Amino acid sequence: MVYQALYRTVLTRIDPEVAHHWAFTGIRAAARVPVVPGLLRRAFVADDPRLRTRVLGMDLPGPLGLAAGFDKDGAAVEALSHLGFCFVEVGTVTALPQPGNPKPRMARLVADRAVVNRMGFNNSGAEAVARRLRQLRAAPPRHPVAVGVNIGKSKVVAEEDAAADYATSARLLAPYADYLVVNVSSPNTPGLRDLQAVEKLRPVLRAVREAADTAAHRHVPLLVKIAPDLSDADVDAVADLALEEGLDGIVATNTTTGREGLRSSAAEVAAAGGGGLSGAPLAARSLEVLRRLAARTSDRLVLVSVGGVWTAADVAERLDAGASLVQSYTAFVYEGPRWPRRVLEGLAASRTRRQDDARR
Ligand code: FNR
Repeated sequence: MVYQALYRTVLTRIDPEVAHHWAFTGIRAAARVPVVPGLLRRAFVADDPRLRTRVLGMDLPGPLGLAAGFDKDGAAVEALSHLGFCFVEVGTVTALPQPGNPKPRMARLVADRAVVNRMGFNNSGAEAVARRLRQLRAAPPRHPVAVGVNIGKSKVVAEEDAAADYATSARLLAPYADYLVVNVSSPNTPGLRDLQAVEKLRPVLRAVREAADTAAHRHVPLLVKIAPDLSDADVDAVADLALEEGLDGIVATNTTTGREGLRSSAAEVAAAGGGGLSGAPLAARSLEVLRRLAARTSDRLVLVSVGGVWTAADVAERLDAGASLVQSYTAFVYEGPRWPRRVLEGLAASRTRRQDDARR
């Protein structure tokens, strides 16, 4: 309630990237004050044995994670776990540091519960992020948090050099990652999504796998993140490739370049500009892609579902449809810090209800 009031009165009136910056800085700073992490955890973490999830070699307190893009530099991983996320995917990180696209590059479409972004992988580069994650690993926190690392292509690198560029990030970051995601689905790096074509993707995945496992001296779970705008045939082709190449899973989906069926006026949509749309309007296609992947890969891959998830029922639906993990970004931004706990508690309650029904 407090967040919603704050959201309506303040956060919707200021530039969304500025709001994100202040929220992020606040979360990070608060978590550094002694005693505060404990208070945050008491307020925001749903600690419930019914939710525990074991997947990709990780023991997680639950299946709900923060999607890539919120903590691009891995600067607030612990703090975000204090807000109730069961794991955090940092990134997208690129081998070279880069500023991203000119601002403004993020807009809200409130009537649609959606966000449009064209950030363009602004991040401090693989070396700097690796340094930060190394520190996190060196001083094990009281409440360890699982960290996925999402990597992308540096903007200045040509498509033919993409495999080597991804491999550089993998080599630097894999030692600190619980899992690694090859992101070939952001609409905001020109040409990136072309890498989803199977014959372009295969060498990237091979190079990343080799670099990651060699650098980390272990098998680092490897996933690929795909766009909702792929045709069904292309979704199947990526699923087949993932199986052929021995990948561990698929993250589906990234944002869409589509703008169909929105409630916001044409003028509002135009004012938001180009880039990827996330949030509620993405839910139907994201679920459809998940179902397709589940049918195609039948339990041989870990599926991470993301896109328009809003309620505990949405999370349960994704898990029922074959996801092992579920992520969110936009609902968290709209609903505020109590959102992960609310959803996880709802999920735990629904699990108990189901058990009771099954017993009857
Ligand atoms: C994103 N997303 C994203 N994904 C990714 O793989 N790398 C990234 O750097 C980003 N950056 C990013 C920035 C912003 C502002 C948003 C809103 C989203 C996509 C995100 O991880 C997710 O796939 C989509 O947003 C769909 O999920 P939601 O937001 O509908 O829950």
